Amino acid sequence: MAVNKIVVAYSGGLDTSVMVKWLSEKYNAEIITATGFLGQTNEIKGVKEKALKTGASKSLIFDLRKEFITNYAWKALKAGALYEGAYPMATAIGRPLLVKMLVDIAMEEGADAVAHGCTGKGNDQVRFEVGVQALAPELKVIAPLREWEFKSREEEIEYAKLKDIPISATLKSPYSIDENLWGIAIECGVLEDPTEAPPEDAYQITVNPKFAPDQPQSVTITFEKGIPVMLNGISYDPVELVTALNELGAAHGIGRLDLIENRVVGIKSREIYEAPAAVILHTAHTEMERLNLDKETFRFKQNVSSKIANLIYDGLWYSPLFDSLMAFVDKTQECITGEVTLELYKGNLRVLSRSSAHSLYNKELATYSIEDKFDHKASEGFIKIYGLPYKTIAQLKKHAEEEVFV
Ligand code: ARG
Repeated sequence: MAVNKIVVAYSGGLDTSVMVKWLSEKYNAEIITATGFLGQTNEIKGVKEKALKTGASKSLIFDLRKEFITNYAWKALKAGALYEGAYPMATAIGRPLLVKMLVDIAMEEGADAVAHGCTGKGNDQVRFEVGVQALAPELKVIAPLREWEFKSREEEIEYAKLKDIPISATLKSPYSIDENLWGIAIECGVLEDPTEAPPEDAYQITVNPKFAPDQPQSVTITFEKGIPVMLNGISYDPVELVTALNELGAAHGIGRLDLIENRVVGIKSREIYEAPAAVILHTAHTEMERLNLDKETFRFKQNVSSKIANLIYDGLWYSPLFDSLMAFVDKTQECITGEVTLELYKGNLRVLSRSSAHSLYNKELATYSIEDKFDHKASEGFIKIYGLPYKTIAQLKKHAEEEVFV
């Protein structure tokens, strides 16, 4: 199939810069770069000039922060989606939005292919390509990093120099870093040795808890139907709310994770994460659910959370099962309105208080004081019936043993 116009997911880093040139030469096609701004701190400056200088005919940049938080991060939060119980999935929820952006641009520009800079052993290639298949099956996807001739960064740099591709700011960090408002992922270099603690320079935004302020700080988060809307009683727009919590959490060393995780392609990898806002919000949100969800819904939702986390991680954001499970999640969130106060102190989060008009906590039932309204007598009959199957098993066992002795 001849390819005439390619939309490239472009970050401005070494790989995607080399890709623009390499693709235009290999396919003799027109290249349009597309960059989604999801809150990464330093990559966005000069991206347009760089892309055009490298040979793109057009360079598009979109500020997707609001859409990212409201349509992607809030869904992951409501779902309680933490991969393998811990990782809030900043990268994994950012990919489907970038895929949507690429597909939209490809349609508008009449492109016949999209290209990404993911490697052949990561999760992101899966997320990009399954996403494109789900949204625009007619588009061809090109993954240059899986097929090109360069075997190392050095070889890419050599090619960049030869082709006059500007790469200056991209060579400093010994780590591979992916960042957006929901968190930062850091890997490679010394981090590849799981027996070694991460060096301090691996962390990009959080202060070492040892050096965090000696004074704890508290923050009150107000939720409306599962979505955080206020901090300390003041309304915030979604992007500002996450930004403020990232700053606050980072200053107290909150949200550092050091994880060995199972990748989609079957290998285990070690990654460092920093996600202050996501960790604070998940902690507060779960607390609200502990207070307001009935026992069976709370327990069932734990399974759904883990399933949704796997779907997101595995690149199945745009899938019928994800949509169906999110419909369940949204129903459960109707009562997740109220307030949670947390204390931030030297890398730790502690719930100080929770309250809600939908709270199912009933002090008259819970108390051990004179105000107690719980019917203690009723427990007797309940336990008798509830334990009946096990009593029956035990009696049968005993009976069988007795027969052996006869
Ligand atoms: N392991 C994470 C994921 O699959 C992050 C991947 C990107 N990491 C990076 N340091 N570039 O979602």
